[in-house]
Amino acid sequence: LAEKVIIVIGAKGGVGASTVALNLAVQTAQLTKKRVALLEYARPFGQIALMLDLHPRFTLIGALERASRLDERLLGSLTEKHKTGIDILAGPTHAALRDEQRPFVTLEGFVKILDLARNAYDFVVIDLGFVNAAEWARLLQMAENLLLVAEPSALALGMLERYLKAASSAGIDPQRFQIVINRWRQNDEDFATRTVGTLSRTFLARLPNDYRQVSEAVSFGTPIAASSNNLLHARYRKMAMDVLGLQVLDHQPRNAESKSPVVSA
Ligand SMILES: Nc1ncnc2c1ncn2[C@@H]1O[C@H](COP(=O)(O)OP(=O)(O)OP(=O)(O)O)[C@@H](O)[C@H]1O
Ligand SMILES: [Mg+2]
Repeated sequence: LAEKVIIVIGAKGGVGASTVALNLAVQTAQLTKKRVALLEYARPFGQIALMLDLHPRFTLIGALERASRLDERLLGSLTEKHKTGIDILAGPTHAALRDEQRPFVTLEGFVKILDLARNAYDFVVIDLGFVNAAEWARLLQMAENLLLVAEPSALALGMLERYLKAASSAGIDPQRFQIVINRWRQNDEDFATRTVGTLSRTFLARLPNDYRQVSEAVSFGTPIAASSNNLLHARYRKMAMDVLGLQVLDHQPRNAESKSPVVSA
């Protein structure tokens, strides 16, 4: 059974949930050397295959269509192995579902796929995107970690507050969400002070705004790579270690944060 199911949610659209989910999955595979699945539940289109220049033969819709006869082996044949070591069930390539596909796209189907992935992998990361927590409560309850991604803007802060309230009225303890601030810039301290004040919450991670690196990674079809002085990569790694409960054991020389550290649970 999986050690952890980690669901990545956007507090609004476009805040970076997919980028965070992908890099978290890759870091998890590199740090633990265990089996990691990335399930792209985001709709209407998948995006992760584009980010990695993958051309999967099957997508989430194929898995949902087969949900009733799905087992671990069949699930394995529907996922695509990436050279980073993670197995990916890519989101749909087309927005319009055929009439005969529609009945299969149900919460039960999503839950079934997660259930099987939990049995087949050590870690399961889900890119859920911006969805209504109340409608997805059953799935959210299956995860050990819920990462809620927001941006350091007044609008995103407002949406973050709304999200936590909505989750709370759907019976999900708002404290279960670990808040990730993406696209952080140096002058965002103000936002941090306000957020901590309004929500009485701390952040799991602050991921720096680095448009060049993120778009270069996409154009090369790779996740963010380790290199010296790469703050974004170092922060992805630190975030993964915090989620996984890993600590750096050995003494790290300066700027070595982004290379593989010796870790222990
Ligand atoms: N740390 C970052 N620095 C700069 N740009 C970023 C960063 N993270 C993500 N981006 C960019 O922000 C945009 C949105 O990212 P992404 O697609 O991951 O968001 P999302 O929440 O999954 O969006 P959607 O709601 O469409 O699913 C993309 O263009 C991505 O390259
Ligand atoms: Mg997305």
